[in-house]
Amino acid sequence: MNAVTAESAVSTAWDEAAQGWSRHGGLIRAWLKQATEAMLDAVEVKAGDRVLDVAAGAGDQTLDIARRVGPSGSVLATDLSPSILRLAETNLRAAGVLNVRVQRADAQALGLDFVNFDAAVCRLGLMFCAEPLLALKGIHRTLVDGGRFGALVFSSPETNPCITTQLRVAQRHAGAAAGDPCTPGGLLSLGRPGLMSALMSEAGFTGVEVRTLSAPFIVPRCEDYVDFVRSAGSPVIALLKPLSAAAREAAWADIAEQLDRFTTPQGWVGQNELLLCVGVKAARPQESP
Ligand SMILES: C[S@@+](CC[C@H](N)C(=O)[O-])C[C@H]1O[C@@H](n2cnc3c(N)ncnc32)[C@H](O)[C@@H]1O
Repeated sequence: MNAVTAESAVSTAWDEAAQGWSRHGGLIRAWLKQATEAMLDAVEVKAGDRVLDVAAGAGDQTLDIARRVGPSGSVLATDLSPSILRLAETNLRAAGVLNVRVQRADAQALGLDFVNFDAAVCRLGLMFCAEPLLALKGIHRTLVDGGRFGALVFSSPETNPCITTQLRVAQRHAGAAAGDPCTPGGLLSLGRPGLMSALMSEAGFTGVEVRTLSAPFIVPRCEDYVDFVRSAGSPVIALLKPLSAAAREAAWADIAEQLDRFTTPQGWVGQNELLLCVGVKAARPQESP
């Protein structure tokens, strides 16, 4: 698959998961609340800032950014999927937010008109890029000197057992080779220790810091999480799409059974570990007269 075909497949897959991601906005908000606050604090988003939100999805973190920058600031929310961006617009309008504009954009090909942002963020989007370095270089270019960038990506397979479980079972049913979960463009592609730090430095960021954050996904019952993945988990949905309806149902039943081992007396708890990655676009040294 060439790069254009791969991005179009990702876009279609997220178009199909868009409604599910938006519908589960409340769950996603609770799941990522602390990590999102940590990301926005690390990027030092403040009143009056102009912020680029890359792979914004249905606009959940966009809302937090819009509130932080206030009426004197602005947010440009971008995403590869037109369907999810339409839902972002609807969700943000419903929240009464007026300082956000949305625009379709592949994170790996940000237009030259994207410039002068005080800050940029990307929450759980960068790992879907087959060429994350291209995305990071493009994001770096959009920032003002001294501008900050923060990304959240999934960490290693070992620290995200509910993700590795569902991928492993889905791959078995789909007949797909049980490939490396860290394959470029995959959910866990940026979790290898040192990788994000190296990529961000190569893209030109300075002061790069990467730290781990625990972000457990907690719902009352295993079925609640399976319902979320069935409608919003684009990578698993895409893996199972070619199967017959009966085979797909059997796969989901198997996934539910395997995920049930994360049920606890306090409800279903899927451990997730994220990497919070932050870097700065260094101010260029003044030219001597
Ligand atoms: C897991 S969702 C995260 C959405 C949102 N940031 C959030 O945290 O709620 C991943 C998003 O990345 C977007 N995406 C995937 N590949 C992309 C790319 N190459 N450029 C821009 N967006 C992309 C998808 O369309 C989807 O909206």
